[in-house]
Amino acid sequence: MKSFQYRNHTRIVFGEGALNSLADELRSCEKNILLAYGKGAIKREGIYDAVIKILADCGKNVTELSGIMPNPTAAKVREGVTLCKENNIDFILAVGGGSVIDCCKAIAVGAVVEEDFWDVLYKAHKKVPKALRIGTVLTMVGTGSEMNGNAVITNEEIKVKAGFNSPYVYPMFSILDPTFTYSLPQYQMVSGICDILSHLMELYFSGEDDNVSDDLNEALMKSIVKNARIAVKNPKDYDARSNIMWGATLALNDMLGVGKAQDWEVHQIEHQLGAYYDVAHGMGLAAVSASYYRFICKDGLQKFVKYAVNVWNVDPKGKTDEQTALEGIERLEAFFREIGASTSMRELGIPDKSKLSEIAESTNLLKSGYRTLTHEDVKNILEASF
Ligand code: NZQ
Ligand code: ZN
Repeated sequence: MKSFQYRNHTRIVFGEGALNSLADELRSCEKNILLAYGKGAIKREGIYDAVIKILADCGKNVTELSGIMPNPTAAKVREGVTLCKENNIDFILAVGGGSVIDCCKAIAVGAVVEEDFWDVLYKAHKKVPKALRIGTVLTMVGTGSEMNGNAVITNEEIKVKAGFNSPYVYPMFSILDPTFTYSLPQYQMVSGICDILSHLMELYFSGEDDNVSDDLNEALMKSIVKNARIAVKNPKDYDARSNIMWGATLALNDMLGVGKAQDWEVHQIEHQLGAYYDVAHGMGLAAVSASYYRFICKDGLQKFVKYAVNVWNVDPKGKTDEQTALEGIERLEAFFREIGASTSMRELGIPDKSKLSEIAESTNLLKSGYRTLTHEDVKNILEASF
């Protein structure tokens, strides 16, 4: 195992009724709060009213930023930064899914620097020494943003969707009530499940050493598959929704990635797909995953065999390693289909192949997986996913 340092700054309050703890969590926070949310789900579900009441009872001055869209844009971040600067905001409460939380993380940085956040984080790649503090109330499960220091922003002008990471944007607290996810449309729930599995696979499919993180990862993948099958049939199964919610957090709160290599090329491809087409993140991942893994399978063959046998119960008897590995990838694809995920570009709603070359050319190529792709390889993977 590689040497590492690990610390996670976020306190989790988990369970039905967890929002009752918001007042306690806010007690040590400053007075001027930016309340940020999406396009309306929290108003329909009564979460907004409950949060507003708690903020009023705590005597906070509230400024609102509404309408944060899926795949949040740089323009939306700038709107939030302006609100923070005009209203002397000193704490941000994000209520929503990954998009709302990520947008708030970028706002938290933009609000404490003179320059535009994009120039600082993405052009100059500056390590910003501070940010406004954030708390979250999670309503959509998948990204893990509630307990990590990552955020992904789409710059629509230059067609780039890209992430940044900072130790200063870990939420101070995150409130996770599984019942808040009951109202998610099936499509969003399934998208989140695909995102979780993709995070786990990106962490798993790299490196060859015997690693406790990969053993935990296999257990988590199996748990997500089992609970997804229950939740798809009965979205109000509290235990299944709880296991998926906490599983999503564990999948990307850094713990399973420490001490080992990680891939993340599927996410690079999906992010560029998302820069060109407004697709649900998890569905985009599901659409390219099987093609990508078939493409790199021979380069990490033993790990793909291990995955097929341990996660999907493929019987290796009488099969070559390659056959066993490919059967594991087939089972993954069949699972995506079974829960209603998009397994091709067409199912994602991508009308034709006209943008595939541009997407491939602009995809970030990482060196940390079993194989370093070329832009031509990405194009072939996208074609195979069509
Ligand atoms: O806008 P509203 O009305 O809130 O509706 C949202 C949105 O349309 C809806 N929703 C959320 N909670 C709901 C609900 N609908 C009904 N009931 C509820 N309780 O769900 C839709 C999708 O929400 P969104 O936040 O976009 O989804 P997700 O959590 O999947 O976030 C996706 C974004 O996170 C980034 C993705 O790239 C994408 O931009 N990621 C962030 C990561 C991170 N910070 O670590 C890692 C991920 O790999 C990912 O890249
Ligand atoms: Zn993801």
